[in-house]
Amino acid sequence: MAKSCCSFFLFITLLLQLNNPCSSLLEQVVTPPLPILPLPTYSQPKWKQREIILFLHFGVNTFSGKERGTGHENPSIFNPITLNITQWDNVAEEAEISLMILTAKNHNGFFLWPSKYTKHFFISSYWKNGKGDVVQEFVNAATHKGIDVGIYLSPWDRHDSRYGHDLLYNEYYLGQLQELLKK
Ligand SMILES: *[C@@H]1O[C@H](CO)[C@@H](O)[C@H](O)[C@H]1NC(C)=O
Repeated sequence: MAKSCCSFFLFITLLLQLNNPCSSLLEQVVTPPLPILPLPTYSQPKWKQREIILFLHFGVNTFSGKERGTGHENPSIFNPITLNITQWDNVAEEAEISLMILTAKNHNGFFLWPSKYTKHFFISSYWKNGKGDVVQEFVNAATHKGIDVGIYLSPWDRHDSRYGHDLLYNEYYLGQLQELLKK
């Protein structure tokens, strides 16, 4: 009895498949060719399609007037009282720029955000009594305009004495990276 019952269901299933107009269509679907590896990641073609990006070098060098920082700049010279990041974003939007990168820390070791990993630099600048956060303002303004954000964090650090000591410096660097990735 069980055996004939099974054959009955098999028969019905076959009939349903034969009557299903989709089954013949499905057979005609051409299998796409296998991709040639390695496949690009999502961000790789996106990067290629970007026409112009903006890389902003802003920091203590802006005030020292030097292209290369030494790490011995006095943080008090960083005092951008008229800074208005909305203006950067307006320019970027007009120029149809899809990504803006900011030097959150250049090799001079000067931080553009109040990091708990450094007391000497940003915290001791006069701008907003050391409580300003250029990186956060930058991220907020760009996000508001729908512009992608890139953050530059120099591995070379001419200011911090831990630079050159692998374990100590890696910890210091990773700490900064974690703070930035939360912005
Ligand atoms: C910043 O600049 C924008 C565009 O010029 C202007 O609309 C805005 O009022 C400025 N903000 C401040 C605080 O000055």
